[in-house]
Order: sequence, then structure tokens, then C-alpha cells
Amino acid sequence: MPGRAVYYLRLSVTGRCNLRCIYCRSGDDAAPPAGAELPAEDLLKIVRAAALMGFRKVRLTGGEPLLRADIVDLVHFVARVPGIDDLALTTNGVRLARLAPALARAGLRRVNVSLDTLRPERFRRITGGDRWHEVWEGIEAALALGLNPVKLNTVVLRGLNDDEVRDLARLTLDRPLHLRFIEVMGFKGNSRAAARRVGTAEVRALLEAEFGPLEPGKPVAGCGPARYWKLPGARGTVGFISPYSAPFCDWCNRLRVTAAGTLRPCLHDPWELDLTLPLARGATERDLAGLFERALARKAAHRGAAAATGGGRPMAELGG
Ligand code: 5AD
Ligand code: SF4
Repeated sequence: MPGRAVYYLRLSVTGRCNLRCIYCRSGDDAAPPAGAELPAEDLLKIVRAAALMGFRKVRLTGGEPLLRADIVDLVHFVARVPGIDDLALTTNGVRLARLAPALARAGLRRVNVSLDTLRPERFRRITGGDRWHEVWEGIEAALALGLNPVKLNTVVLRGLNDDEVRDLARLTLDRPLHLRFIEVMGFKGNSRAAARRVGTAEVRALLEAEFGPLEPGKPVAGCGPARYWKLPGARGTVGFISPYSAPFCDWCNRLRVTAAGTLRPCLHDPWELDLTLPLARGATERDLAGLFERALARKAAHRGAAAATGGGRPMAELGG
């Protein structure tokens, strides 16, 4: 079976979010899913267990991780776990301008921000929040602080932002931004958004018609599924995350911990292992590492076999 070592832990630190993106939450989902989150001590124990298992990279995600009151402390402590040499964070950017300096001081070196549009009124339509300016300030703050790389995630949706891919890509011309166009994934409760999927080939054709042939970009730190390209002469890069047109299951290198405290080998496989009970019973890092071992075995057996459905949990709990 193909596949690399699994060394990348995605930790969903809260199920809460201050936005309700149409590709993430179902439109009538008034009550966010329980807003589950584990205490920081438990999250740290999980990270230490992962490090024992040879994990080297951690991404904090959500929900919206910057809603946690203790997020700066969490970054501080995770950044100092021996063996973890790469710590990243995915955010919707709403609170980033406020928190970026403290996060950088705590040890965060890089960040991923969702940005689907450059138009505030569209932002409201896609995310349910009138927060575009805050997000933009967050991106500028991250650049000003020298966080590197600053990656942007754009989920391309037909009739909502597909006419903006050129303008979004243009951001990379004179800024060290790494923009990734994402094929929207189908999950429980988001079929209306999933029906708007625009494939990578189409986005690429739009860019090449405007800017000329894309040049191969240098790989950007992160070892994720994106493939990187450059607009001619650009400072930053454009990439494509193509779960449908170029599935990457075979070399998936990640394990997830959901906001509810379960270990998930695959976004789309409902199989998961509960960590909350062992944690409540005082499990050691060694004990948790044993559970990691079981999840890794499941992953090895299951690689690439799951249909893209989210396996029963909404995206906000699974952690993007
Ligand atoms: N399909 C593809 N990407 C998604 N994201 C959230 N929901 C989906 C989906 N249904 C991406 C967003 C966000 C990241 C955490 O996950 O771009 O930036
Ligand atoms: Fe919140 Fe991210 Fe989901 Fe949007 S995609 S609702 S920002 S968790």
C-alpha cells in the first residue's frame, strides 16, 4: 500500500465558531454542535502522546480556535513540546488582528486564514457574518508580524465567488501570500454548497487565461495536499486542494482529534476512538500513545476507502 509515515496531528480545539460558512454548517443549524472542547491540560497530554508516537507537526484548528480564552497559552505550551517542530493554526481570521502579536510571541510561526471573497457583502452571504474587514486586518497583521508562510484558503463556489478567483490570485503578485483554491467537500448538511463545487481544472483555466501559464512554485512549508504554482513574476504562490479531481488519500499523513475528544484516522471514515474517558480516568501519555497506535492501524487498513461524507460529524467538529 502506498503512503507515508503519519506524523501530522490536527487538533480541533473547539467546536464553537463565530461564523457559519455555508460549506461548513447547514443553513438552519442555529445551535452549534454542543460547542465541545477539551481542557488545555488534556490537549497538551494528547500532543505529548503524539510526540511519543513520532508526530512532529501539530495544527490547531476548530471550529474557530481563536475563540478559546486560553489559546495563547495553548500555543505557548504546544510550541514547547519536545519533538514537535512545526506548529500551525487555522483560523477564520475574525479575531486574528487582535491576537496575532501575542500568538507570535507565544511561538506561532505561521497561520492559515480562510478568505473566500474580497467583497464584504459577499463575505456576509458566504459566512453569515459582517466581518470581512476584521479578517482582512488579520491577514495584514499576520504579514506585518512576519508570520511565514501565511496561507489563505478559498473554497470556490459556483455563482458565489467563482468570478473572483482572478482577483484573489492577484493578491499573491506583490505579497508573500500562499492562496489555495479548494474543491468544496460534501458533508452531512452541506449538500447545497457541495452542489456548487468548481473543479481545479476550471479554476486553473480561468487563471491561465488571465495571467498566462502558471509556473511551478517552490513547495511551501506544510506538507499538506496542496500543489503549488506561481503566477508569472509573483511573490507568493497559488495552490490547489483537489479532493475530487486529484484525491490525496494515498499519501495522507495526518491524524485528527475532534473537538469532542475523539481520535479520527480519516475525515470521511466514521471510525473513531474516544479519548475523553481515558483522560478522565487519568490515562498517561503512554496509555494515550497506545490509542494512537490503534488509530494508526485503522488508518493503514482504511486508506483511501472512504467516500467523502465527513463520516457523520460536521466540519466544525472535525477541524477542516
Ligand atoms: N469543503 C472544503 N473545504 C472546507 N473548509 C471548510 N469546510 C469545507 C468544505 N466543506 C475549509 C475552509 C477552512 C478550512 C478550515 O477548511 O477553507 O479554511
Ligand atoms: Fe467557522 Fe471555519 Fe466552519 Fe466557517 S469553515 S463556519 S469559519 S469552522
